[in-house]
Amino acid sequence: MSKVNVTTREGQRIVIDSQNGVSLMEAIRAAGIEELLAICGGNMSCATCHVYVDAADIGRLDPMSADEADLLESTGVRKETSRLSCQIVVGPRLNGLRVRIAPEP
Ligand code: FES
Repeated sequence: MSKVNVTTREGQRIVIDSQNGVSLMEAIRAAGIEELLAICGGNMSCATCHVYVDAADIGRLDPMSADEADLLESTGVRKETSRLSCQIVVGPRLNGLRVRIAPEP
């Protein structure tokens, strides 16, 4: 299990315990945080799983693909630390990761 610190759009801070090896999107949904819609189910076609990663943690993630970057760009609310949570795999290396759920695209 790994811990992830999630801040909702309303500013509520929730610490979730996630299985390792699942996507961050799945972990957030499994924790009952439904404002992360993840409409496409992790197929990288909707961007409704968009999160802002804490600036201090962004370097812990693997680089994003060109397709992820393109989809994030299409949201209109992309920031330097934007990522699609369906493309992040939770594991011990990311224990304690801090993310904020981005506005709906
Ligand atoms: S769930 Fe649709 S892009 Fe991540």
